[in-house]
Amino acid sequence: NSMKNELEKLQATASEVDLGVVKKDFEGFKQLFHRFLQEKGPSVDWVKIQRPPEDSIQPYEKIKSRGLPDNITSVLNKLVVVKLNGGLGTSMGCKGPKSLISVRNENTFLDLTVQQIEHLNKTYNTDVPLVLMNSFNTDEDTKKILQKYTHCRVKIYTFNQSRYPRINKESLLPVAKDVSKTGENAEAWYPPGHGDIYGSFYNSGLLNQLIDEGKEYIFVSNIDNLGATVDLYILNHLMSQPNGKRCEFVMEVTDKTRADVKGGTLIQYEGKLRLLEIAQVPKAHVDEFKSVSKFKIFNTNNLWISLAAIKRLQEQGAMDMEIIVNPKTLDGGLNVIQLETAVGAAIKSFDNALGINVPRSRFLPVKTTSDLLLVMSNLYSLNAGSLTMSDKREFPTVPLVKLGSSFTKVQDYLRRLESIPDMLELDHLTVSGDVTFGKNVGLKGTVIIIANHGDRIDIPAGAVLENKIVSGNLRI
Ligand code: UTP
Repeated sequence: NSMKNELEKLQATASEVDLGVVKKDFEGFKQLFHRFLQEKGPSVDWVKIQRPPEDSIQPYEKIKSRGLPDNITSVLNKLVVVKLNGGLGTSMGCKGPKSLISVRNENTFLDLTVQQIEHLNKTYNTDVPLVLMNSFNTDEDTKKILQKYTHCRVKIYTFNQSRYPRINKESLLPVAKDVSKTGENAEAWYPPGHGDIYGSFYNSGLLNQLIDEGKEYIFVSNIDNLGATVDLYILNHLMSQPNGKRCEFVMEVTDKTRADVKGGTLIQYEGKLRLLEIAQVPKAHVDEFKSVSKFKIFNTNNLWISLAAIKRLQEQGAMDMEIIVNPKTLDGGLNVIQLETAVGAAIKSFDNALGINVPRSRFLPVKTTSDLLLVMSNLYSLNAGSLTMSDKREFPTVPLVKLGSSFTKVQDYLRRLESIPDMLELDHLTVSGDVTFGKNVGLKGTVIIIANHGDRIDIPAGAVLENKIVSGNLRI
């Protein structure tokens, strides 16, 4: 009840223009908060976890062997591409939407996405639209940029996800003073995770509009996953199933390596496929969860979802996602929590859900400047907005790159690299401390460069480092 009072007070501060949106957001938040209060104990009972049945996660090769649709154009015309665009580039030291960071030849994530879809539309004479799910953090900047694509052959729609109040960890009451997001209120609001897509998409009216236009599936992915291109084999698989047997939800998963032990995995639980995230795992089982042999695959967050099924589940109130409680400390030191959901967690609500084990190349996320170095380098080539591993690389594996904290911000990273080194023969790179790279440096095998505190290492232009450790004044 005190939450209800607080929300009413906040709502009263909304202007006439914002009131409708604020009311809708508060409705959604109240439901989520209510569920949060009712939840007792962990959301999974460890002993009930089972390995998914053999045919519930199919190898991509098997899907591919079924071939392409006879009429690619008509199948593509039932598809909508959705990119999750609510996030900011703060983890790479950038202000504004992450999708507007340049990742390759001056192209941003958004540019590459538009190029990919435009290429698809031109090749198959189709009109696959792009839908961006923005948040209050990204909407304005994104919309300004969209003008640049008006002459591209891609229709772009946007809708906004919800804006929920962060709550004080102790009192469980909102920290906001009013509904504005400026001044002392700047940190009082948050976008509640990508699981918010179902409610927001439905409430925006866009979901119904697309269904009316004959669209059947959405392909959803993180905007920062450069490997998430439209795959015609998966699409064909979805569309060729007889009605009634159709998969309403496909999750692309890929084999786990030791580098991605934290990703969510698929399990069988109470007779249904379910996403298990590390946050849901009891402490005693975290090592088991991380093991590559027991939980072999993880979620790429590339998802294919039936529009009609989303509509049905929304209207029945049957979309069920575990709540992720995300603790944060605000700039002033106040401890808050924000309640979130993840889009993949809804898999258990859909009929005939399927996992497809796709090649690693469909998972190419750029989360850090180390990832950025890889995708900017000659390890990849760019074709119509898609990155593919260069055929000049002898092994199809990606090198392990770890850039230290002086490279974390994109600006610092760009300043420290005069040009992107040749990395075709690189296996492992670790850089730490005050290091810069001159033009046309070559890196091969294992290279470790460590500048100790107070030291600085400048790798000269044209240098080729092969299996080398460079550290302080010691050169081996
Ligand atoms: P993140 O970058 O925050 O997630 O968002 P992550 O840590 O890699 O992985 P997950 O959350 O476990 O999958 C992934 C994508 O979701 C969008 C971001 O913009 C990014 O494209 N996102 C995230 C939203 O659109 N809204 C949100 O509330 C959160």
